[in-house]
Formats: sequence, C-alpha cells, structure tokens
Amino acid sequence: MKSKASAPGKIILFGEHFVVYGVKAIVAAINKRVTVTSSKTNERQILVNSVFGEDSFSIDADIDVKSPLKPIVFLAKKMIDEFGHNGGLVIDVESEIPVGVGLGSSSATCVAAAASISNLFAKFSKEDILNLAIEAERTIFADTSGADCTVCTFGGIIEYQKEREFERIKANPRLNLVIINSHKAHSTNTVVNHVRVFKDKHVKEFEKICKMESELIERVKETLKEDGSISSIGGLMKENQRYLKEIGVSNKELDDIIEDANSVTCGSKITGAGGGGCIISVTEFEDSLSKFSDKSYDYFLAKIDFDGLITF
Ligand code: MEV
Repeated sequence: MKSKASAPGKIILFGEHFVVYGVKAIVAAINKRVTVTSSKTNERQILVNSVFGEDSFSIDADIDVKSPLKPIVFLAKKMIDEFGHNGGLVIDVESEIPVGVGLGSSSATCVAAAASISNLFAKFSKEDILNLAIEAERTIFADTSGADCTVCTFGGIIEYQKEREFERIKANPRLNLVIINSHKAHSTNTVVNHVRVFKDKHVKEFEKICKMESELIERVKETLKEDGSISSIGGLMKENQRYLKEIGVSNKELDDIIEDANSVTCGSKITGAGGGGCIISVTEFEDSLSKFSDKSYDYFLAKIDFDGLITF
C-alpha cells in the first residue's frame, strides 16, 4: 500500500521573527507544493529519495542523521516504533518549492511526510499531523514558532500567534504576488540566532520594535477585513520591511532588490528569515508584472493556496 500526501509552501506576509517572541504574524500558503509518497517494506531500513538524492538509514542503529532529511527519518522511526512495524519504509519526496529560500520547503515536507507516513499506520487528524510535523521540524530548528507548519497544514491566510489557536483570515484579497529569489544562501536557524543576539543586546529597542510590529499587524488585519486596496497592503509591507531592517535581517543585496521592486509594485519585503532567500512584492494589476520582464531577477508569480494539506 502507498500513502501519498501533499502540502503547500508558504510566505510570511507580515511578522516574521517577531512571531518567535509572541507577536502575531500573518502567514499565507502558496500554490507550490511538496508531495510525499511512502510505503512499507520488509527490510529494516528507511530509504528516502529526495532532491538531495537517495539516502538510507538503518532502523536498528542509533539514528543521528546530520542532513536535511533528519525530520523525515525522525517521523519514520517514530511511527515504526509506535506501531511495532517489523520492517522499514520507502519515502519519496517531490518538491515544486525551491529549497532553503524561505518559502517553507522544510515545513511543507514535514507536514506532507507526517501525513503520508502516519497514514500507513492509522488515521490521524489534521491537528495531530500538525503536531507531528512541528515535532519533526524541531529536530533541525529548535526555535520554530510553528507558524510555517500551521499554514502548510491548513492553507489560506492565517493569523498566527505562538501558544494560541491560529485564526483564519477570511479575506481573499486579489493579491498578485511576485516572489523574487535573491539566490543569496541563508539558514533560518542562523538568522533566528542573530535576532536573539540583537534582542539580548538591545532589550528596550527590541521591545519597542515588537510593539510597533504588533500595531502594524492590527492595521493589516483591518485592511484585509475591509478588502483594503493592494496599495495599502504594499505600504504596510514597506513599513514591516523597515522593522526587519532595524533588527538586522536585511542587507545591501536584499535592500537593492526591494528598492528596485518597489519602483514597479505597491510594496515589497523579505519573506521568512531574511539574510538571503526570497522577497515578496504585491501589485495591483496583473499586467504590471510585465514590468518585471526586463529585470535580471529570478522571480515567479504566486497565488494563495486555500487547500492546505491534501491526502490521496
Ligand atoms: C521563518 O519562515 C519564519 C521565522 O519567523 C521563524 C519562525 O517563525 O519559526 C523567521
């Protein structure tokens, strides 16, 4: 028997980093997916095929995986142990989401793998799958706020705050999203650690920026509720980008792309951890996207995904 599941990637529209410290974030799923297919085998090993190639892990050895596959191996081992399976698993991971650029490839993989693997053994609710996915993601990123896995599971646009039930934002703004890949490598873990150092060094300043970010998020929610104009959303993005700059997660390359993208869109900002990765811009009219065609960036257009996790 094969068990297949697919989960969308994500963008953080507003509130990355501050969400780690309890501020609300507005997060959306996008129409790029990771699909995971799993099946049971009789051999005592976990075989994973992914963009990183083919890798196998013995179930009976102590598993200390030092690779991006660690969350998948963790999930496989957890289910095999919990359900007393005598054999192993084969797990295939296919992704439309570029890896390591802040678009949730790791979270979408954790969610799709949690669903695909667990469904081989029992029926789990979406909430259980989300909890499994967050537990798996914590094996490589201990400080995750959980925002990314949550939106990858439930789709749409959500308001997320740590240790609280997430809330769906019912608005469906006609966001024409442009996602620009800076091709500057980054590690979420490293950038999140830099922010922690900044926060510990500049306690009062960080508190002040968190307060401003919280107020900004409330204005974003009002704007979205009122089906506010894309130009208002773009303006709020520019403001969010200023706060991200203040906590040190932007840099010259990203600032230059953002300034240039702002000249042809309503507003742009980093999405995800920053330091590199992707930038999002919003535009009012789809045809203004043609203005991007003479830019040298690697960009693509995205829409909000309202399906979230799908199991087949
Ligand atoms: C990463 O996509 C978003 C961060 O806020 C970290 C997190 O929320 O886990 C930087």
